[in-house]
Amino acid sequence: MNAALIENIRRAHERRFGRPPAVTAYAPGRVEILGNHTDYNEGFVLSAAIDLGLGLALSPAPDEQCRAQALDMAQEICFDLPVTAPVKEPLWSNYLRGVVNKLSAFGRIKPGFQATLAGDLPSGAGLASSAALEIAAVLALSRLYRISVTPLEMAKLCQSAEHDFAGAQCGLLDQISCLYGQEHALVFSDFRTLAVANVPLPADICFLLADTRVKHSLAGADGVASAYNERRAQCEVAADFFAKVLPHPVKALRDVSLDEWKTFAPRLDPVTARRAAHVIEENTRVLQARELLRAGNVRAFGELMFQSHHSSRTNFENSCRELDFIVAQARQMPAVLGARLSGGGFGGSAVLLLHPRATAPVGQALAAAFTREFGQNCDLRPVRPSAGARLL
Ligand code: GLA
Repeated sequence: MNAALIENIRRAHERRFGRPPAVTAYAPGRVEILGNHTDYNEGFVLSAAIDLGLGLALSPAPDEQCRAQALDMAQEICFDLPVTAPVKEPLWSNYLRGVVNKLSAFGRIKPGFQATLAGDLPSGAGLASSAALEIAAVLALSRLYRISVTPLEMAKLCQSAEHDFAGAQCGLLDQISCLYGQEHALVFSDFRTLAVANVPLPADICFLLADTRVKHSLAGADGVASAYNERRAQCEVAADFFAKVLPHPVKALRDVSLDEWKTFAPRLDPVTARRAAHVIEENTRVLQARELLRAGNVRAFGELMFQSHHSSRTNFENSCRELDFIVAQARQMPAVLGARLSGGGFGGSAVLLLHPRATAPVGQALAAAFTREFGQNCDLRPVRPSAGARLL
């Protein structure tokens, strides 16, 4: 966490609202390491909270109004309680409104509040900046109004805020990773049982993020389902099909094995079959990867990341030219152990697994190759698996 960022938020809050904040919360972004689009299929994911995030300072308002200033965007919004629906713009404000709406089912939010927020987490880079905003908000608001909510309830209410106020039918991965991150460890999540455990990383590996700057949006625009929502619907169609043809219960793609897929996939339309293959194989890869990590076999672990990207590119079709280019370049660099797209896809960031000493030369080579290919820069930055969201 960036201490200067928090100091800046607190000072700006006092300047604007005339008194220091009563509560300050910090929430990190996340990187998805393996397990792509498995969360809403009740599957498995390995992810990490990262050392980039967002801070939010809060104090009670003298009246019923809620005001929030977003320092990075130099914007201030104002709304009255109760919050009942999303607004057209600014879009970021819907994450805050959504959390206020959902949290009020757990306790009374009254009077209004004054908020100041800022972060060092780029938005639209596939690093879950919206979940960071939701989680920072729910932590700070629940403390300010003395509303008792468990971390899992927080994750779920933030997810539901995102569904109803931002139109993205996301799973729980972003919120869980943001809450349960730990220094130099991955977060292993089982999205059926919602059991979460940390898996320590070997000392001599780190991650490099390559942000393509291709903007992706998970939310539907003008009522047209986004590609993300469409993938989710295709997975549900596949799960319904397997529930009909298999002799055992199938609630989600999590319940389908690769052998079952091989037997019955020819009866599915080819696109739906490939979507299902991606999810089923990703689940297997996450479980394998967890064992490989425990055994310290980072090279084989990295190989699974390359396989995951290949499957995103060919089966799930949620990659893009820029991400494919980065992963293909990384594949040719002996110092890179693994690389893949991270998160929803269709743009955003790729994540590379490598030894710390390789970060600078790999970053420079990738940046130069990307600029030669596309005539514009990508952003490369090392990230550290870090502690989860907290009140400060
Ligand atoms: C986005 C969603 C998550 C998850 C990933 C893909 O980050 O918010 O719920 O589905 O995409 O794994």
